[in-house]
Amino acid sequence: MGFFNWAAPLIRRFGDRFTAENSAEIAEWLSPAVEPGGRVLDVGGGAGQLAVLLAHALSASVTVLDPTPEMIDHVPDISGVSTVTGTAEAMPFADDSFDAIVVSDAFHHFRDQEGAVREFVRVTRPGGLVLILELDPRGLLMGLIVFGEKLLGEPGAFLTPDEMCGFMASQGIDGLCEKLQKADYRFLGTVDKPKDAA
Ligand SMILES: C[S@@+](CC[C@H](N)C(=O)[O-])C[C@H]1O[C@@H](n2cnc3c(N)ncnc32)[C@H](O)[C@@H]1O
Repeated sequence: MGFFNWAAPLIRRFGDRFTAENSAEIAEWLSPAVEPGGRVLDVGGGAGQLAVLLAHALSASVTVLDPTPEMIDHVPDISGVSTVTGTAEAMPFADDSFDAIVVSDAFHHFRDQEGAVREFVRVTRPGGLVLILELDPRGLLMGLIVFGEKLLGEPGAFLTPDEMCGFMASQGIDGLCEKLQKADYRFLGTVDKPKDAA
């Protein structure tokens, strides 16, 4: 049994971090690419808290992709939100399926980050947006969290904001990293690819 299978009840119980206010702000960041009726993919979306709020705020269809049944089974069964079991590295979606991708507190868990970003580029339409909400691993508290996750058998590969921006640019997604509150930061970038090719 993997980390997320046994930790899912705890994450579901204590992991909620989104409010109507901060999800409205996230929706605003995505709105240049997502019109009402648009399509958003929440990769590593867990129990779907952000997906539900974004579907409402953007009037869009949000798909939660996650490999952990103990998380994804708890995504509310509501109009505008759907679930797919799978990983970031091998997505069961056609090319150009989404207007935007959001990844919240999950990127550092992807075992093959390069493969995952290749999939982001493939399944996002040209000009679509990729938003990654991550934690900057620097500092004492984050050092302890990173160490704790390792002890629990979930070795995260955290990137600093500069590393994230450089890495995403090297994979074809140019964007900006911006500090949010505490150790949180966001990467927001545009998928720049020809209209007829992945
Ligand atoms: C800490 S939870 C975050 C859940 C949600 N995004 C949030 O912000 O509350 C991390 C999630 O990443 C998922 N995950 C782990 N490895 C993954 C992978 N390779 N591809 C997609 N999701 C993955 C886990 O199953 C888990 O639901």
